[in-house]
Amino acid sequence: MTHARHAGQYLLGSFPVNRMGYGAMQLAGPHVFGPPADREQALAVLRATVELGINHIDTSDFYGPHVTNALIAEALHPYRDDLVIVTKIGARRGADGSWLAAQSPAELQAAVHDNLRNLKLDVMDVVNLRLMFEVAGPAAGDIEPHMTALAELQHQGLVKHIGISNATPAQVAQARSIAPIVCVQNQYNLAHRADDALIAQLAADGIAYVPFFPLGGFSPLQSSTLEEVAAQVGATPLQTALAWLLQRSPNILVIAGTSSPAHLRQNVAAAELKLSAQAIAALDSVA
Ligand SMILES: NC(=O)c1ccc[n+]([C@@H]2O[C@H](COP(=O)([O-])OP(=O)(O)OC[C@H]3O[C@@H](n4cnc5c(N)ncnc54)[C@H](OP(=O)(O)O)[C@@H]3O)[C@@H](O)[C@H]2O)c1
Repeated sequence: MTHARHAGQYLLGSFPVNRMGYGAMQLAGPHVFGPPADREQALAVLRATVELGINHIDTSDFYGPHVTNALIAEALHPYRDDLVIVTKIGARRGADGSWLAAQSPAELQAAVHDNLRNLKLDVMDVVNLRLMFEVAGPAAGDIEPHMTALAELQHQGLVKHIGISNATPAQVAQARSIAPIVCVQNQYNLAHRADDALIAQLAADGIAYVPFFPLGGFSPLQSSTLEEVAAQVGATPLQTALAWLLQRSPNILVIAGTSSPAHLRQNVAAAELKLSAQAIAALDSVA
């Protein structure tokens, strides 16, 4: 039976989660700027996630904005005890849908409260600090003020665990010197492997690595090698890309995003796909 448990489990802070999770960003609508293209389908996708055994959902209040969190609450609240909802703070949307930094201590505090209210929660399970020194990728910058603000929110009991996103290895180290970090969420997939060394280091320390754009994001992965391996193993190319991530390192948690119930089921089914060493070697050469 298609079920997220086939991906195995990993500890996200104190929470055991199935390594096959779900990223809710695609539900917010075109350009992640609400309303959703198909509201009923968005709710159906969310209900299907828990039916398929997913107990790790990634979101943010700046998806929509507010749209994705409102959909999650409508579809799934009151939440199952084992469901871990992870949000991210540090950005806001311009009136034109642009992605703007919102990184002052006051903005970070307000963002945690917005997430709690819209998700109908008293405590956030995990909050990722989404760095915005550059929007499109990690860039150097001091994160002491940001981390201190987030650690204070944790101290107040509003945040159980802290993660960091769009971060350089140096920023991950700086964050860890200020507060315990349970996950790092950076762009990573078959074709984008800048974090290989970081993933190994985090694995050694029991910290989850949660790749965003696991399927390539807005332009899903395309590779003739991926297509060839997928044909050999009898799966779709995107299922094969997810199976590669699951086998890449035990601390990788998959949060593929989709607005389609059929794609969600296909993605969860990838948890059962086992790739041979030969297939993995071929896929490793894609990058
Ligand atoms: N921290 C950050 O800065 C950051 C940035 C981006 C994303 N994220 C998080 O990471 C999650 C995953 O990233 P993502 O959703 O942007 O990208 P993704 O998972 O790499 O890919 C999503 C795209 O793939 C398509 N897709 C998904 N499953 C498919 C399937 N089985 N067959 C064909 N197409 C499929 C989706 O279209 P359909 O809707 O048509 O299926 C969508 O266009 C997000 O949901 C979000 O939670 C975080």
